[in-house]
Amino acid sequence: MDRSLNSAEAGGMKRLGWIIQKVRWKAVGSLGMVLLWAGCVAPPPVATPAMVGYAPQGSRLENLERGREILVGACARCHAVDPPDAFAPAKWKEIVSEMAERARISREQEADLIKYLLGARAWMGVERSSSGR
Ligand code: HEC
Repeated sequence: MDRSLNSAEAGGMKRLGWIIQKVRWKAVGSLGMVLLWAGCVAPPPVATPAMVGYAPQGSRLENLERGREILVGACARCHAVDPPDAFAPAKWKEIVSEMAERARISREQEADLIKYLLGARAWMGVERSSSGR
């Protein structure tokens, strides 16, 4: 009686160990997927005072910061967002006026988003050429 109970217990422990191992590998796998995903879809660059110099006339740092918030918030609700340098300025304006309704953003938010996208886009171009990438 005692013996059979012990062997049942041992079997249970073994199974438990196996499950823990499986779960652990799953966790490692998920982390890998997240890192892979993060590597492929780089977040849009953070707004900086340097970037303001590349943004449309009259843009302020707050405009760019708010614009970026909209991009990673309201816009990213439906799909991954393209990096600012994915489109030419005229195309971005077209896209934003089309998507603004879907994202339910105001005219002011639309303007901030454009300021961010154009500023970040130009800034990224300069960064890339100066770093030789
Ligand atoms: C309610 C969901 C939704 C929201 C919010 C949304 N989009 Fe989209 N977006 C779509 C869908 C669906 C498409 C696929 C193309 C289409 O239907 O026009 C798309 C396509 C795009 C494209 C590809 C267009 C092209 O010409 O290649 C871009 C870029 C884009 N969205 C940017 C944005 C931006 C910027 C915002 C925030 C202002 C935004 N989206 C918010 C649903 C959304």
